[in-house]
Amino acid sequence: MRILAIETSCDETSAAIVEKIDDQTVRVLSNITATSLALHATTGGIIPENAAREQVKYIMPVIRQALNESRSKNQESWENANEILKDDIDAIAVTYGPGLIGSLLIGVETVKTLSFAFNKPIIPVNHLLAHLFANFINPEVSLREVPLSGTTKQSKQRTLRGSLSNNITFPFIGLIVSGGHTDLLLFESLTNYKWLGGTRDDAAGEALDKIGRLLNLPYPAGPEIELRSNRFSDNHKSSSPLKGEGWGEGGKFKFQSPMLNSGDFDFSFSGLKAEVSRFVQAQNDNKLLTDELTDHICSAVQEAIFKVLIKKTVQAAKKYECSTILLGGGVSANQTLAEQLKLDAKRYLLNAKVLAPERKYSTDNAAMIGAYAALNPIEKGWKKINSQPDLYFD
Ligand code: KG4
Ligand code: ZN
Repeated sequence: MRILAIETSCDETSAAIVEKIDDQTVRVLSNITATSLALHATTGGIIPENAAREQVKYIMPVIRQALNESRSKNQESWENANEILKDDIDAIAVTYGPGLIGSLLIGVETVKTLSFAFNKPIIPVNHLLAHLFANFINPEVSLREVPLSGTTKQSKQRTLRGSLSNNITFPFIGLIVSGGHTDLLLFESLTNYKWLGGTRDDAAGEALDKIGRLLNLPYPAGPEIELRSNRFSDNHKSSSPLKGEGWGEGGKFKFQSPMLNSGDFDFSFSGLKAEVSRFVQAQNDNKLLTDELTDHICSAVQEAIFKVLIKKTVQAAKKYECSTILLGGGVSANQTLAEQLKLDAKRYLLNAKVLAPERKYSTDNAAMIGAYAALNPIEKGWKKINSQPDLYFD
């Protein structure tokens, strides 16, 4: 099954063509993303009207390019894209929530139109679940490695089975950490899952972005906080989170890890933001906020957030007897989070396996929407699909 997938829930306009290889593996034939991030960096955050206006500009060119690139990089015409949509595509997947209403509408209404015009079914996708399903994309399987035309289904499968399958075992724990959400889920199968807990206020990425603003870091602050934390660790080798017992040991100060011992699977990050704000204000008043101190603060903030995320994820895996943990969402692009989670999972779980998507599939992208749709192909007619900005879990 070959799917055209569209993602427009926030500030990225993305289209991808994906194909299911087996029950665990999806390959990406093309994945094109236009982002209005630079515009939002000038306002220090996303203004929804601006994001929606940018979506309108990018949506059709992005779809055209994704369709054309699924066959060849050199063809750019609309005629070609039309032909590919008509001949190659079995269904169109789209994010229907959660997200910004204006941004979601652009994707959903475009897909409804294409569905009607080309007579293709729609697969509506929950953006949050798709973040975890990015782990089912096999980056080693690309269009050009496996011949498409003139290859029988069997010979294609022979090439791909075994070594390339992701071998994700059930049940597994999923941790979604993005700019808008922080949630822990237990998956019994691809379709059967249970929400275990989530943030009561700010999401992990949101906390990083807001703290970044206090420190005058560029928006979104997650990548810059990772960079500065790594620099701090390099300059204080003994305190490197990956080397010693605890992390930030060489640091002079720490921030509280909120709800670390609450005994449930919930999170809260708004108190941390307030604590950092007071600290930064005091340093500013004394003209002490140097570049080096900013690195130190970033490291301490990362440690406080990741410590609670990791502890509760491993606790959930232990409680529900899972050896596999899947990470997803923009914050899962952070190497320290993934590596430290791997270390802790190995320490406390038998046969621990921790997967995080490739960096380009961690932040918002259409390939992950396609991956979810390819593995859960529940089709709906265009009249039955509506944007749901407040969509959460069933
Ligand atoms: O999943 P995503 O692209 O959008 C939402 O669905 O929210 O996540 C964006 C979030 C932002 O808060 C951004 O600061 C954070 O992901 N992020 C990171 C990193 N890259 C992006 N956080 C920590 N380390 C990173 N390398
Ligand atoms: Zn997202």
